[in-house]
Amino acid sequence: MAIKNAIVPVAGLGTRLLPATKSQPKEMLPVGKKPVVQYVVEELENCGIERILFVTGRNKTSIENHFDVDHELMRLLRETGREELIDELKYEQMAVHFLYTRQRRPRGLGDAILYGESFAGREPFVVALGDSILGLHAQSHVVRGMGEVYEQRRAVCVIAVEEVPVDMVSAYGVVKPQSGDDVFVVEDLIEKPSPAEAPSRLAIAARYVFSPRIFEALRETPPDRRGEVQLTDAIRRLIRQGEQVIGVRLRAAESRYDIGSFESYFNAFMEFALTDPEHGAKLRQRLERWLHETH
Ligand code: UTP
Repeated sequence: MAIKNAIVPVAGLGTRLLPATKSQPKEMLPVGKKPVVQYVVEELENCGIERILFVTGRNKTSIENHFDVDHELMRLLRETGREELIDELKYEQMAVHFLYTRQRRPRGLGDAILYGESFAGREPFVVALGDSILGLHAQSHVVRGMGEVYEQRRAVCVIAVEEVPVDMVSAYGVVKPQSGDDVFVVEDLIEKPSPAEAPSRLAIAARYVFSPRIFEALRETPPDRRGEVQLTDAIRRLIRQGEQVIGVRLRAAESRYDIGSFESYFNAFMEFALTDPEHGAKLRQRLERWLHETH
């Protein structure tokens, strides 16, 4: 893929996951064996991304620590003959180059993206939300495909979308598609609509490709009632200016695991743990026994 840069915003407060997120980032919560943000980074690397800018905030230093090479720990594992655990830290050797900047106050996702303007320069870039995994064990290549669509369609923005049940639309940004195709022109989009207002059931699914034109649109976008600059409002502005915004449907195998609420976090954890190659089978047996005994 020609696009080499990605911005991963991780500066949100994660209030829906309190008290778990009181002093640790939600992006560092484990789903199975790994923290959420590690899956995001591995997915991006698999899609050809070479540089990642994390937009962080207060209480987020554990993310930086997680991606640092920990020589002392490595030496200790080697000296104590636990070589097999060194494999678990292989991700530290990833070829991706990490950069960090801090959003001074959590003023919304749109504001967080603005912190990446000089990082992106004149090149198109990916935005991947740090609290969402795509595909079981992050086996999604949709970002690579979105990069190709961006080039072929001469779009300013490509958005991954996923069909959600109608009672879930109010949790997401929702798009109005021009057609029923898997790759389609987005005519409009609306942030957290009521089911009655929603133009479809296609929810924005945590991955975007942008032209640097988005920065201008973000600067022109006023904050909403809660003082947050919404990324969807800026994309809507681009559509109104006649720019091409394209939606790409996620395939079934790439479904989104959003860990922003306890319900979705528990679901993600359970599915990843039950499919863990080492522990999944036993866990499933125990769960079946427990369900049998309690009903
Ligand atoms: P959310 O919309 O889930 O918001 O963020 P939040 O603040 O993290 O969580 P709640 O609503 O208080 O529970 C989606 C992504 O955007 C980032 C978050 O870190 C998350 O990865 N984000 C959000 C920022 O980087 N800055 C912000 O000001 C808001």
